[in-house]
Amino acid sequence: MACPKLFLPCLLLQLTSLFLVPEVAHGQGLRVGFYQKACPNAEAIVKEAIAQVLSVAPSLSGPLLRLHFHDCFVRGCEGSVLLDSPTHQTEKYAFRNHSLRGYETIDRVKTALEKACPGIVSCADILALVARDIAVSTGGVFYDVETGRRDGNVSILTEARRDLIPPTANITTLKADFAKRGLSAKDLVVLSGGHTIGTSHCTAFSNRLYNFTGKSDADPKLDSNYRARLKLSCKPNDQTTLVEMDPGSARTFDIKYFELIAKRRPLYFGRRTSRRRPNQGVPRLPNQDRRVHFLQGLWSVDGENGSDWRAHRNGW
Ligand SMILES: *[C@@H]1O[C@H](CO)[C@@H](O)[C@H](O)[C@H]1NC(C)=O
Ligand SMILES: *[C@@H]1O[C@H](CO)[C@@H](O)[C@H](O)[C@H]1NC(C)=O
Ligand SMILES: *[C@@H]1O[C@H](CO)[C@@H](O)[C@H](O)[C@H]1NC(C)=O
Ligand SMILES: *[C@@H]1O[C@H](CO)[C@@H](O)[C@H](O)[C@H]1NC(C)=O
Ligand SMILES: *[C@@H]1O[C@H](CO)[C@@H](O)[C@H](O)[C@H]1NC(C)=O
Repeated sequence: MACPKLFLPCLLLQLTSLFLVPEVAHGQGLRVGFYQKACPNAEAIVKEAIAQVLSVAPSLSGPLLRLHFHDCFVRGCEGSVLLDSPTHQTEKYAFRNHSLRGYETIDRVKTALEKACPGIVSCADILALVARDIAVSTGGVFYDVETGRRDGNVSILTEARRDLIPPTANITTLKADFAKRGLSAKDLVVLSGGHTIGTSHCTAFSNRLYNFTGKSDADPKLDSNYRARLKLSCKPNDQTTLVEMDPGSARTFDIKYFELIAKRRPLYFGRRTSRRRPNQGVPRLPNQDRRVHFLQGLWSVDGENGSDWRAHRNGW
């Protein structure tokens, strides 16, 4: 059984496991090692599957990290980004042209877990564990992931458009949107460090190159050498080209992204953070901190809508 391709089978699976595995059902809140008894190898299985995927498709590291982020920002971390519907009105269809991919990898991990322990590990937890294993296998620091998330059953395209912060948002909006989810300015800084791996479509930042204020101008805050180089890769209205977000080390989970910001070279957040004093108004963190705490902040975004088995039971 793969992760939710369709609402119904997945719900059935969730419900089945609810009745078969009281231990899971009674789990209150998140904790490290949630699956220790019900599926002791769960985390090892995820780790191995991700190692295999990255060995043949290293470019999936960025997208897989991003799946967890997108999931958490819409309705909390409850797997809603994975849900499908016959009419294509779920969250995943909001990003069709915006490089959200890696669903097959999540399915593959889920299949491996189902084989070992049917109906135990939630898809939302898989996304969280995969994000950690991506960070670690690309050179980041290991961190414990609390598990015990419940999968939600609601996924609405328009909510994704509403709740995901656009790449053009300013620092005020970013901080406010993070605060709404219980995330601090520090969380904002560490999470933006996730741009240390992966690529971006030109469309996400081409306004900074060609039409910043609507007068065919460039963003003056973007380093001019970097801008010139980006223009070579990204022609106006280029919808397809991908560029590295952290040029030269886009497959390594390091702190170079923060160095780029200091040099006024981030692809996004330009207007907000690449002032003379980078990160003005948001805390500066020691290097180690930036890596260790990466993504941990997302834990607190757990969806009230997905976190309760009993709700499913009643709803069903
Ligand atoms: C839960 O769902 C309600 C109604 O759809 C929504 O207003 C609320 O923001 C959701 N909660 C989270 C944490 O996303
Ligand atoms: C967006 O995605 C759809 C479906 O995959 C595709 O047909 C269309 O060409 C894409 N549009 C752009 C601008 O990439
Ligand atoms: C930030 O963006 C919001 C929404 O677009 C806008 O209302 C606000 O005035 C902007 N703030 C600054 C300081 O530019
Ligand atoms: C630049 O932006 C303005 C305002 O959004 C728009 O009217 C204009 O067509 C854009 N120019 C180009 C070359 O895309
Ligand atoms: C999702 O579950 C809730 C109860 O938690 C229920 O009210 C709702 O009808 C379910 N939605 C779908 C699409 O199954």
